[in-house]
Amino acid sequence: MAERGAVKRPLWIFGYGSLVWRPDIPHDERRPAWIRGFARRFWQGSTDHRGVPEAPGRVVTLVRAEAARCWGAAYRVAADERDAVLDRLDHREQGGYERLDVSIHFEAGAPQTDGLVYVATERNRNYLGPAPLDTIARQVRKARGPSGANLEYVLRLADSLREMDASDPHVFALEALLRQEGIE
Ligand code: SIN
Repeated sequence: MAERGAVKRPLWIFGYGSLVWRPDIPHDERRPAWIRGFARRFWQGSTDHRGVPEAPGRVVTLVRAEAARCWGAAYRVAADERDAVLDRLDHREQGGYERLDVSIHFEAGAPQTDGLVYVATERNRNYLGPAPLDTIARQVRKARGPSGANLEYVLRLADSLREMDASDPHVFALEALLRQEGIE
């Protein structure tokens, strides 16, 4: 039974990478959403999901970009699932991501809500940082890890963003380069 006076509230989680297309967490609601002041970039190395330590893959993180909007998917997690979901995501995102509190915005007219997002900053050991897009594409094409091919991560993210009518020039330019070189 909940402690008297303790208010348990649902938790909103904003996903912008694999959480867009493979949330793998119990949730009561999923909505297209955006956060302000961040841009998505394939600047984080993945040694535990989409690559291995000897050949890291590239996955997305967020970088500060003052006027930008980053679109993704927001998940509402029931109050009584909150702790279990956070444990699960902390484990899944342990390759360099930290939790950050953010305001999550929905389509026009809907009120915003507080929530959290997992971000990998340049302080983590797997951070790779910027590189020319064709270098990123070459790395993505080669990399594979316990969760599968790095290529799949890029293509599924691009497909999911398109499904929600979300634009992201960085993701779509990388996707185009990979598709242009042929998808096996
Ligand atoms: C996210 O999807 O929100 C975090 C990055 C990832 O796991 O790909």
